[in-house]
Formats: sequence, structure tokens, C-alpha cells
Amino acid sequence: MSDIITVVAPVNIAVIKYWGKRDEDLILPLNDSVSGTLDTNIMCAKTSVCARPEFEEDEIWLNGKKESFSSPRIRNCLKEIKARASAEKCVSDDFLKWKVHVCSENNFPTAAGLASSAAGYACLVTALAKLYKVKSNVSSIARLGSGSACRSVYGGFVRWHAGKSADGSDSVATQIVDSTHWPEMRALILVVGDTKKKTSSTIGMKISTQTSELLKHRVKYCVPQRTEDIIEAIKNKDFPKFAEITMRDSNQFHAVCLDSYPPFVYMTEVSHLIIELIHKYNDLYGTKVAYTFDAGPNACLYLLENEVPKIISLIKHVFPSSNPDSFITGLQCNEEIL
Ligand code: DP6
Repeated sequence: MSDIITVVAPVNIAVIKYWGKRDEDLILPLNDSVSGTLDTNIMCAKTSVCARPEFEEDEIWLNGKKESFSSPRIRNCLKEIKARASAEKCVSDDFLKWKVHVCSENNFPTAAGLASSAAGYACLVTALAKLYKVKSNVSSIARLGSGSACRSVYGGFVRWHAGKSADGSDSVATQIVDSTHWPEMRALILVVGDTKKKTSSTIGMKISTQTSELLKHRVKYCVPQRTEDIIEAIKNKDFPKFAEITMRDSNQFHAVCLDSYPPFVYMTEVSHLIIELIHKYNDLYGTKVAYTFDAGPNACLYLLENEVPKIISLIKHVFPSSNPDSFITGLQCNEEIL
């Protein structure tokens, strides 16, 4: 019987969005993406795994509810981790045959566009890697669970290279800088809604890939330069440049959703109000805050530590029933989670 292994993994919030796949099975993206990995203090996934000879089936509980282990993504992750363990001769063949039980939970709304799948799969794969004593990096296996999960395996700012090869061997995440590089960087999550989104990221990006002309333009003409520019801005700690690229990229991603056919929307009236508010603030004080929205209505604001009190009081003033103080965090400091 194995010990119970428990790990915690962070959420990452993209500043250059991944949207669209060149290979659906291997989860290979159309474009490079860049994200910040957030400290696990306010949002994280927590997963426990254990293998025993008496278990009859692989089983999984997600947020207290038993779910099917037959999902191809979960099965693929387990299969690949076991293949690595076997290749690295980490555990006995008998151990590899035992069934596993997995228990995973998020401490934030699932499927409401808050990168829950990224943290969830990064966590699952990291826990399984520990269980099977896999030593090598597992970012590419996390990618098989959910594309954005491959970025959650590193702290600081991370780039996921789209890669060109058909087998996905060059579609890997690398760390741009660790969290000590820009220690004043903060992320403030504004929870606008926690209901499950109507169009999942997976379905949404499939529709966009098949139908959006704007997505083709974005992938060819916008993202490559933006990626280089934002990496330079991060390395130079140039906040105004970082912020403008982040906001433009978020806006273009949501424009792609509208350009898809049929179109779908993730942002709500409140999301748009937040955008307006941030632009007004930036017009008054210089570019001090960046917003970005994933596939949901919730905002992630990137800002520097000295702006935090001002922005928190502004948000409280405009949305009196909100509670922004509890959703402020820094970047995850681990160089690698595993
Ligand atoms: C808008 O990684 O959830 O958050 O690979 O199909 O599981 P799948 O999609 P997922 O997509 C995330 C999309 C995004 C942008 C991003 O995180 O880069």
C-alpha cells in the first residue's frame, strides 16, 4: 500500500492568452502564451492520491463529488505518468498495476473562468508524479489534462511555447523570471460571478479555431510580437508596457469570442464596468493597473504593491458589497512546483 500523497498547486492567469489548438488530442496550441503563477494563499487546488492492491477501480472525487475516471484527459495523464515511471524504473511493476484513488478540491469557483482546470491538472499530475516517484519535469503531462495547466508547474512568469512539431515535443512551458524578479507585482481577483460558464474553454476555442478570421489574424500578426514585447517588459519591469499589452490581449481574446460563429460571450456588464473603471484610473494617474479576463466574467487585476490600497478603496467605493481585500496575492515563488 502507498502513502497518501497530498500536493497543492497554484492558479496561473495569462497575460497573453492561449486560445485555439493545432492538435486537439495532444492539446497543442496555435500560439505561444504567457502567464503569471499566483501564490497559493488565496487560490489553489489540493489533490491527494494513493494506490493500493485492494482497490478495484481507479476512482476520483472532485470537490467532494465522485466523478468518472473515464475522462480521456484524466486517463491520459495517469497513463503518461505511469509510462514515465516505468521508463525511469522508479517503482515496481506490481505497484504500477495497483489502482489509484484521487481526491481533489479547489478553494475557488470551479469552471467560472478562474483557471481551475490549470491548477487542478497541475496538481493531479504533480501528485501522481510524487506517488510514482517520477523525477523528470511533468509540465508536458499536465498539458495533456488542460493546456494552461502546463504553465502552473512553474512559479513567477511563465511562457508556454506553442512549438511546431507534430508530436508536441517542443510545446513546453519555461520560466521567464521567478517571483523574486518583480517582488512588488500583485494580482487582485475580482469575483464577478461563480456560475459555471455556458461555453467551456475547450468548446469555445474549437468554435473559434474553426470559424474566426480574427483568430487567424491574431495568431499570425499579433501574438508573436506581443509575446516578445511583454517578455521584454517583464524583464525590464516596465509596468505601463506590461499593462497595455495585457489589456490589449485580453480584449482581443474576447473580440475573437464575438467573432466566432456562433458567437459566445464570457464577460458581463460588471466586467465591462471594471474595464471602464481601470481605464479612467489609468487616464488620471498613468498606467498603474492592468485587467485581464479569462473564459469567464471575473477580472484579474495586475498591479504593483503601492497601488493596492488605492485600488481596493476604489473598488469598495464603486462596488460597496464587494470584498476585494481577501483576493489579493503575489506571484508563486517556487521555481518548480514539483
Ligand atoms: C482563456 O487550458 O482551460 O484561460 O486546454 O481545452 O483545457 P483546454 O483549455 P484551458 O484554456 C484556458 C484558456 C484561457 C487562456 C489561458 O489561460 O491562456
